[in-house]
Amino acid sequence: MQESSSRGLLKFIVMEVKWIHVLAIFFFLLSVAMTGCFLWQYSLPKLDPNPSVMEVRSEAVQMCPRYPEPVPLDHPVPILKDALEKVDMMLRQKIHSSGLPAMSAIVIYNDTVLWTGNFGKKNGSDPSSVVPNEYTIYRIASVSKIFPTIMLYKMWEEGKVTSLDDPLERYVQNFAIKNPLGRFKESEQRYTADGLIFLEKGSTPHKPSPVTLRRMASQLSGLPRKLRSTTLLWKGNTQDALALLKDDVLVADPGTRCHYSNLAFSLLAHVLADHAAEGQYQRWISENILDRLGMEDTGFDITPPIRSQMAVGFYGSQQPAPLYDLGWYRPSGQMYSTAADLAKLAMVFLGTYHRRLLEPDTVKTMLTPLFKCSTEYFANKTGTPWEINEQLGYDVIRKDGDLDGYSATFSLIPKLRLSFIVLMAGPRPQGEDIVTRTYEYLITAMETAFREAEKTLSPPPSPVPYVGYYTYSNLTFYEIKVGPGGVLVMQQFGPHVEELIPEKYRTIKLHHLEDRVFQVVFDKEFPCVLHLGSASISLETQNGQLFNFYPFDRKGLSPGFDAPGLNTYNVLRVLRKPVFYS
Ligand SMILES: *[C@@H]1O[C@H](CO)[C@@H](O)[C@H](O)[C@H]1NC(C)=O
Ligand SMILES: *[C@@H]1O[C@H](CO)[C@@H](O)[C@H](O)[C@H]1NC(C)=O
Ligand SMILES: *[C@@H]1O[C@H](CO)[C@@H](O)[C@H](O)[C@H]1NC(C)=O
Ligand SMILES: *[C@@H]1O[C@H](CO)[C@@H](O)[C@H](O)[C@H]1NC(C)=O
Repeated sequence: MQESSSRGLLKFIVMEVKWIHVLAIFFFLLSVAMTGCFLWQYSLPKLDPNPSVMEVRSEAVQMCPRYPEPVPLDHPVPILKDALEKVDMMLRQKIHSSGLPAMSAIVIYNDTVLWTGNFGKKNGSDPSSVVPNEYTIYRIASVSKIFPTIMLYKMWEEGKVTSLDDPLERYVQNFAIKNPLGRFKESEQRYTADGLIFLEKGSTPHKPSPVTLRRMASQLSGLPRKLRSTTLLWKGNTQDALALLKDDVLVADPGTRCHYSNLAFSLLAHVLADHAAEGQYQRWISENILDRLGMEDTGFDITPPIRSQMAVGFYGSQQPAPLYDLGWYRPSGQMYSTAADLAKLAMVFLGTYHRRLLEPDTVKTMLTPLFKCSTEYFANKTGTPWEINEQLGYDVIRKDGDLDGYSATFSLIPKLRLSFIVLMAGPRPQGEDIVTRTYEYLITAMETAFREAEKTLSPPPSPVPYVGYYTYSNLTFYEIKVGPGGVLVMQQFGPHVEELIPEKYRTIKLHHLEDRVFQVVFDKEFPCVLHLGSASISLETQNGQLFNFYPFDRKGLSPGFDAPGLNTYNVLRVLRKPVFYS
């Protein structure tokens, strides 16, 4: 905090001295203001001695951090319990009002299942049927598309796929489709010479932008929704599919438009299986994903034992739905699973499952949005294979599935380490989306829980090298002391500083990360911007910054430190506390 607040403070100090400094400070603050745009809020700092004025201001002051870091929670957390009860009530009410026969839902935080909810009856047409549970099987429909995507990433990690951006042709001999929109425009150049007009046409070679593996798994390939004149129950094979595609046409220039395609995922799955899994897509998924993660109740084939564990799926008309077999489109939507199994998968994406499936960096790539869709698409952004919507400032990453008799959502908010999964034995309830509604309750509760949790800060092995007085260009001054638990505390001091800035915002804690590196931590919530008369200081940009102390000198003291994130270098040690004359 001190680093830029110092410059803010400087405004006051220097104002009386030199104009040039004021200008410098002004520009610093400006740059700070532009980098620090996050959002959240909370109640107010007690800056104002007059209570009635304080109340008025409490509406206006934005409190920070806006996006609190997830921290280990000490359960039970009352505010979280409250939010989960609201989720429970909302879902219970939805299932009654919509006539949905069965629903199983689960909320995961990091490595913990926070809540499970099971509603209705496993067999809606049998009055004596039991309530479903976490092990009740539902069809997950398009949530199945997560699996060919994992296959793609895994084969990429293993080097069986060279690049995620490889064109599909590299992995299947006879793939061809008309791609009229993906061609670069023929260049047409007119030039004149000696009074004659020359027309140069088609000078660039035709190299259409390709259908790549990643685009196929991200609804960006331009491939149509389905193969020409097929239904999702089509029983052909991949050669038949390629033959059909030869005289088909891409509906968009690859990589430019979000367009939902079951064809893309099925073709990707079959091509990858033929390329590196002996054509056995389902076996590859079972051996490399399901068995490995212990997803025992997840698979493709609805055998009698599976049926007996299944919630019976119904149409909106209350008629039981047939268990269609998707044939060649199986990779796009055939699978069944349970809330418990999908929770394991969610923990894989949150990086907390005890078995590793993908490298942490691969997971990071997989959870990164790829493309902003136009407003007519049903999601704000597309990912691989996700649909991504923004809610309360967070990216909600999800995959929905809807099929005769069943609907499902698998969703994550990576930044909050939160996941919500819901499986239903019927069509999605009408009205406001239950997933969005659930997150409405959970996001604010989690934020509050994070803000209120005690932070555990690490002290350095020895405080001696760091303790003492420092200055930045003789303009601002700091003292580093040992605080409770050996954690270092840094306080700004100097002329005017003490009068102008409340002590709690002049003091920060230094959380020891490694070696000589510390992180700036505000213990409690703080105003994002501190307004002091005509100046303002962004505390937000300072929170979480790293201080990199210099190697120790002969006396075992660090001579100073840098704060690269604040573009501040050479904060140097001074041997004794400076005396200020005014
Ligand atoms: C998340 O879970 C992992 C693994 O159990 C644990 O090491 C980490 O501290 C947890 N993080 C939070 C924020 O709870
Ligand atoms: C569900 O209950 C109905 C009525 O008892 C019964 O006819 C049907 O076979 C049951 N379905 C399953 C899959 O158990
Ligand atoms: C995101 O999508 C929702 C509907 O899914 C829409 O209401 C909202 O305006 C979109 N937001 C942006 C930023 O595009
Ligand atoms: C601060 O001022 C003192 C005395 O004028 C000078 O010796 C010292 O080099 C200055 N330090 C910095 C960091 O500018």
